[in-house]
Amino acid sequence: MLQTAQAIDRLGTETAFEVLARAKALEAQGRSIINLGIGQPDFQTPPHIVEAAVKALRDGHHGYTPANGIPELREAVAADLANRHGVEVDPAQVMIVPGGKVTMFFAMMMFGEPGAEILYPNPGFPIYESVIAYSGAKPVAIPLEEKDRFAFSADAVLSQLTERSRLLILNSPANPTGGVTPKAEIDRLVEGLAAFPQVAVISDEIYSRMLYGGRRHTTLLGYEDLRDRVILLDGWSKTYAMTGWRLGYGVWPVDLAEKANRLAVNCHSCVNTAAQYAGIAALIGPQHPVEEMVAAFDQRRQVVMHEITSVPGLSCVEPAGAFYAFPNIKATGLSAKQMEIALLEEAGVATIAGTSFGRHGEGFIRLSYANSVENIREALSRIGAWLAAQETDAGAA
Ligand SMILES: Cc1ncc(COP(=O)(O)O)c(C=O)c1O
Repeated sequence: MLQTAQAIDRLGTETAFEVLARAKALEAQGRSIINLGIGQPDFQTPPHIVEAAVKALRDGHHGYTPANGIPELREAVAADLANRHGVEVDPAQVMIVPGGKVTMFFAMMMFGEPGAEILYPNPGFPIYESVIAYSGAKPVAIPLEEKDRFAFSADAVLSQLTERSRLLILNSPANPTGGVTPKAEIDRLVEGLAAFPQVAVISDEIYSRMLYGGRRHTTLLGYEDLRDRVILLDGWSKTYAMTGWRLGYGVWPVDLAEKANRLAVNCHSCVNTAAQYAGIAALIGPQHPVEEMVAAFDQRRQVVMHEITSVPGLSCVEPAGAFYAFPNIKATGLSAKQMEIALLEEAGVATIAGTSFGRHGEGFIRLSYANSVENIREALSRIGAWLAAQETDAGAA
């Protein structure tokens, strides 16, 4: 009998991939499925970025790179952060990794162990809770509430910090809610964190370019008092429609960068070299493809909101960032999971149950509006028709 480590049984997963597999299986049976489940842009990577990778391969860049990434790419990241956020970052603090996920995994490996507590948003990206549990640390949920438009509440975070707290995970703009935490609330949080100097913060800013309604991004790196304990997580996946390239970065405090480097050497050696050259082209090349994609998401966001309000039983806080809406389904009387299954199997619309993002997601489903306006309208029309049919059935029964 094989005996695996107990920790592996504590590892969770991302239901979005299971829903995607089920949606594909239904499509293979000839069913029409509209996918509002998976969280990835429905755009292609801009051609000049693809060309940079092809050129790198043709130019013979086939070998390993330094574990933390090629210097030109780390310099381009530092320049991008200076340009977008006005923050000075030493390229030596930048660690190029295969996707945004790796920075969070490394941070959790670095800080998590039995006896430690790690605070994370709930509902939130499912990998946070999963990897905290894997590390042996105690996952401490920070509830994100509809009444706060799914922004972090500084009080809710600060009231749960203890002497056992080691790491705090923040995410704004947020998956799965589209919530954005206002600067004033972040200011209050940072002020309160002064009393907990042993707590590191990982700020997941992977959706930092996807903000709507004239909002501006507030980066945790912008707070001087916190600089020596902030790990910034960002990357190319969402911004440049590069989810399949596996390219992300972390900005680490100087003394943690060396530890992150050691993790990389032990884990993946370095990121695919051609992808790193593509990453440079993305950052220093034209930004209009990003602006056009974000403008398209904004338009779809408005369509989603308009369509949701016309479906009895659904209501939704207007998302302020990312490309997700998180409608409240409580009036339907169905649980989030029941709704996810029924919408996929019976209405032909893939969505994700709010509970896939933690127990505070009960009563909600996530709709990714990374799909065409036409498909979004059709999906909401199918959802509305399916819910109306349930009402009729209930009335007839
Ligand atoms: C909040 C958040 N952080 C990180 C990631 C991971 O991104 P990547 O695909 O680059 O690993 C995602 C992907 O969905 C996400 O939603």
